Amino acid sequence: RTLRIGLIPGDGIGKEVIPAGRRILEALPASLKLKFEFVDLKAGFETFEQTGAALPDKTVEILKNECDGALFGAVSSPSQAVKGYSSPIVALRKRLDLYANVRPVKSVMTAKNPIDMVIVRENTEDLYVKEEKTYEAADGSKIAEAIKRISEKASFRIATMAGEIALRRQNIRDGGAPSIHKSPMVTITHKSNVLSQTDGLFRATAREALAASRFSSVGVEEQIVDSMVYKLFRQPETYDVIVAPNLYGDILSDGAAALVGSLGLVPSANVGEGFAIGEPCHGSAPDIMGKNIANPIATLRSVALMLEFLNEETAAAKIYAAVDGNLEEGKLLSPDLGGTATTTEVVEDILRRL
Ligand code: NAI
Ligand code: MG
Repeated sequence: RTLRIGLIPGDGIGKEVIPAGRRILEALPASLKLKFEFVDLKAGFETFEQTGAALPDKTVEILKNECDGALFGAVSSPSQAVKGYSSPIVALRKRLDLYANVRPVKSVMTAKNPIDMVIVRENTEDLYVKEEKTYEAADGSKIAEAIKRISEKASFRIATMAGEIALRRQNIRDGGAPSIHKSPMVTITHKSNVLSQTDGLFRATAREALAASRFSSVGVEEQIVDSMVYKLFRQPETYDVIVAPNLYGDILSDGAAALVGSLGLVPSANVGEGFAIGEPCHGSAPDIMGKNIANPIATLRSVALMLEFLNEETAAAKIYAAVDGNLEEGKLLSPDLGGTATTTEVVEDILRRL
């Protein structure tokens, strides 16, 4: 099988970590019978300054018509609004209908309290439909309002994806990957005790989706989002797969990333029907760019995650194992993890293990 992968480095350290992603795909063992073709694509703030568009139409067209998947580095956003500029990754999610944001958070399994969870965030609706308005109250003071939209369709497909991820994680465990979990579990997150219509619909629909017979081996539980945050920090090892509407998912996934020590470790994927973009969770890190010290692991794990969604579980598992090997040995670590290794040295250690 030949997979065509779009490479979008973006800005800052995106330019240092995306080449590492390409290298690991090229280094996968020949026995997997996987070949890759790469297409270099532009997006980001530098692209905006050069061309007037943060996300050139050409990038979207090529991804849509020619690619099986993509890797996205990071983009810089100006801290003050710049006329005509808006985030290319947000636009990409919309234009390619990448309705799920998937974020695994995993510590080394030899840690004192190992964590191995994945947050599955709905990515098209909820408060992020951005339908806001400001108006004046009778006394002339301002009132601002935003729409929170939850649909049965989007809730059903995100919960279905969470169920499928739970099954796949079980397969990867059955294939010998060390884990703290014994059986698959999906936790539905909501606040339906207060928002009985919107979050109530999310909760009921997610329950219905996960009641499908193919998920009979997947445990289902639910948790109110505020107590979820508490438990996430106190007992993170409890969680396997968490599914949440957009806003809660955004907050939970950034919070969960803090549990494993460095942003440089945390991958994500933006997933739609038959397409996935792997993307490290960190930004363009201008404070360390150009020094060859960015941790490439978030990107390498994003490559593996993208492969999972392209149904290449075996290849994904090999990358995860090589990365875990590097972290467990702990000899060649980048500075964000307390080591002194360069980006290149970390990548080469992981390629050797692969
Ligand atoms: P950031 O994630 O770029 O950096 C936060 C801190 O973590 C910095 O000290 C950085 O050096 C460190 N860090 C991040 N990734 C690392 C890695 N792989 N290895 C080692 N250390 C790493 O977030 P920040 O500083 O808030 O934002 C910088 C720029 O990135 C801004 O323009 C922001 O808008 C953009 N950004 C873009 C994102 C994206 O493309 N998805 C996400 C977050 C921020
Ligand atoms: Mg966020």
